[in-house]
Amino acid sequence: MTLSRSPRFYPIAEPEIGKLEERYVLDAVRSGWVSSLGEYVTRFESEFARYCETSEGISTCNGTAALHLALASLGIGPGDEVIVPTLTFVASASAVLYAGATPVFADADETTWCVSAESIAAAISNRTRAVIVVHLYGQPADMDPILELCSRRGIVVIEDAAEAHGALYKGRKVGSLGKIGAFSFYGNKIITTGEGGMLTTSDHDLAERARFLRDHAMSPSERYVHPEIGYNYRLTNIQAALGLAQLTRIEDFMERRRKVMRWYREALAHRRELILNPELPWSRSSNWMVSALFPPSLNSDAVAQRLRQLGVDTRPFFRPMHLLPPFHRRKAGRKRHFPVAEDLARRGFNLPTAGKLAQKDIRYIAKAVERVLDEHLGKPRETVAV
Ligand SMILES: Cc1ncc(COP(=O)(O)O)c(C=O)c1O
Repeated sequence: MTLSRSPRFYPIAEPEIGKLEERYVLDAVRSGWVSSLGEYVTRFESEFARYCETSEGISTCNGTAALHLALASLGIGPGDEVIVPTLTFVASASAVLYAGATPVFADADETTWCVSAESIAAAISNRTRAVIVVHLYGQPADMDPILELCSRRGIVVIEDAAEAHGALYKGRKVGSLGKIGAFSFYGNKIITTGEGGMLTTSDHDLAERARFLRDHAMSPSERYVHPEIGYNYRLTNIQAALGLAQLTRIEDFMERRRKVMRWYREALAHRRELILNPELPWSRSSNWMVSALFPPSLNSDAVAQRLRQLGVDTRPFFRPMHLLPPFHRRKAGRKRHFPVAEDLARRGFNLPTAGKLAQKDIRYIAKAVERVLDEHLGKPRETVAV
């Protein structure tokens, strides 16, 4: 296959909005229930909870709010430490600061790219109240040793499953493994509500507490009586209508993402210098983002720029939290160097992962990746017309 000018531009992610979504959203709009009261909110919460194998779903206006609400509902605040992976999206750590607690960072594990029991153990102090385990790029963390460690040390496990809807750990859904799970429905996620989020838990009292705080902490029995200060973190009925329609299609989305991942693996299997997402026998990833680790000698800006010229969008891996100014300044975390996370962040890229992609698209993208590898490793093979 010779690479010619890209027939199109392949973005990193694309939402799939169809007729069912249009129908439900229009129905919500026409019903007049456009704010956060309405049938779609209740149905979306209960159906999503069922999908995640939990008894409770608490919808929120986004995933960041869901994380903050989880911490607030658990009573985590000033003086408490929360362990967070250093390799994650910033919201996992900023939510801890919103709660007034201190994020303490943990390194990534080479196998899963998530935190491990070992990296968490290295960050525990007598002030540790919780750990936020992020299932990075859709790959579940190795939860059993983490749950065992945290239960022994009296530490609450919060799952940040913003990227991992439908992912399985030893046959169980993520979001049901810890005390509480947080999801995001941002436009690039497995299912979307535009902006939106959800907490999942099987602890009824915790769910009630989260609903109370989410709804301005208004007394359930007396209107406009607020025993504490709460938040307005609610999802609208219109967004929930979109989410419910998306949820009916989630298994199809997941299946197509699995295919996309498989096609990448097939197309790039012979490039030993390239490492794709972890593939572990005890888990099923949501395949949120196909990710590739390039050889350390490659300049990441040049790789991204060249792929863009070839019509392929990329995203660098998240910048580790301990290297970001707000966390650096606060001296969050005792350890200052996290070699695995730093190495992954230096070498990692996300590649186009939309479920709409066909095998010929993946072949094109894989060829472009190979082309860039060859150019940068000094082995030009084909003329690329761009
Ligand atoms: C790991 C992780 N946590 C939290 C969030 C925050 O979700 P939201 O953008 O819906 O606030 C995101 C992504 O957007 C994420 O990737």
